[in-house]
Amino acid sequence: MGNTAAGSAPFSTGRAVVVTGGASGIGLAIAEAFRSNGDRVVVLDRTPGEGVVPVDVAREESVREAFAAAAGQVGPVDVLVNSAGLLTESPLQDMSLAMWNETLAVDLTGVFLCCREVVAGMRDRQWGRIINIASQLGIKGGTGLSHYSAAKAGVVGLTKSLALEAAKDNVLVNAIAPGPIETPLVDGISEDWKAAKRAELPLGRFGRPEEVAPAALLLASDPGGNLFVGQTLGPNSGDVMP
Ligand SMILES: NC(=O)c1ccc[n+]([C@@H]2O[C@H](COP(=O)([O-])OP(=O)(O)OC[C@H]3O[C@@H](n4cnc5c(N)ncnc54)[C@H](O)[C@@H]3O)[C@@H](O)[C@H]2O)c1
Repeated sequence: MGNTAAGSAPFSTGRAVVVTGGASGIGLAIAEAFRSNGDRVVVLDRTPGEGVVPVDVAREESVREAFAAAAGQVGPVDVLVNSAGLLTESPLQDMSLAMWNETLAVDLTGVFLCCREVVAGMRDRQWGRIINIASQLGIKGGTGLSHYSAAKAGVVGLTKSLALEAAKDNVLVNAIAPGPIETPLVDGISEDWKAAKRAELPLGRFGRPEEVAPAALLLASDPGGNLFVGQTLGPNSGDVMP
């Protein structure tokens, strides 16, 4: 399955797609959406599962091995979705360096490492789409979430910079910054917090993973995604209006 060169026929199905964090939540919904679209999808995740290639996105060697395994299954990667992430909570004044470092390593360095694995090949082939899952907390901040918000703001900055580097080779890099979405990531947050959060959302409810996935499909689509460069889309129930 070859890629089309820039300016030739649309390339919107049958692509090799890698989704990190695709064993759960938003990543799982995105992997399913690409499969339904007729793409060939490989899921990379720390959580074992059928057909899942194991990876710890925070570890360089693990990322290298996982992407080699993915390429062995589907060939050169056309679309990368970085959805692997974790969320912990602590006021900054009580936060251990270990907690800070873990979040930055997974939620920001992991995105860097995975992008680095694929971007050169995409540029050589003159077609690629990279979609990084940030968070609206990277834009507005969040109490007890300085590490997470810093990592996600970093993802937005990384996305813009890599977009500038790669756009001329028809490799388009964008981010999605969801608002609160019903996934295992937010299961641990108190019901009181969730109720208060719902009340302040213009839509009055959290989103569902399958309501985020179409944004990833759009950004990856040709021609629908062709003019998005370094953007951050916000499926967020109205929580942030940039
Ligand atoms: N759920 C929300 O409200 C929300 C809002 C905004 C952004 N996000 C972001 O969306 C992404 C997906 O989150 P989700 O809500 O689907 O959570 P989730 O917990 O359902 O899924 C996250 C997945 O990432 C995997 N993962 C975690 N650390 C990893 C590592 N080191 N290496 C490889 N895989 C790892 C987990 O095993 C899990 O399968 C995350 O980046 C998260 O920060 C979530």
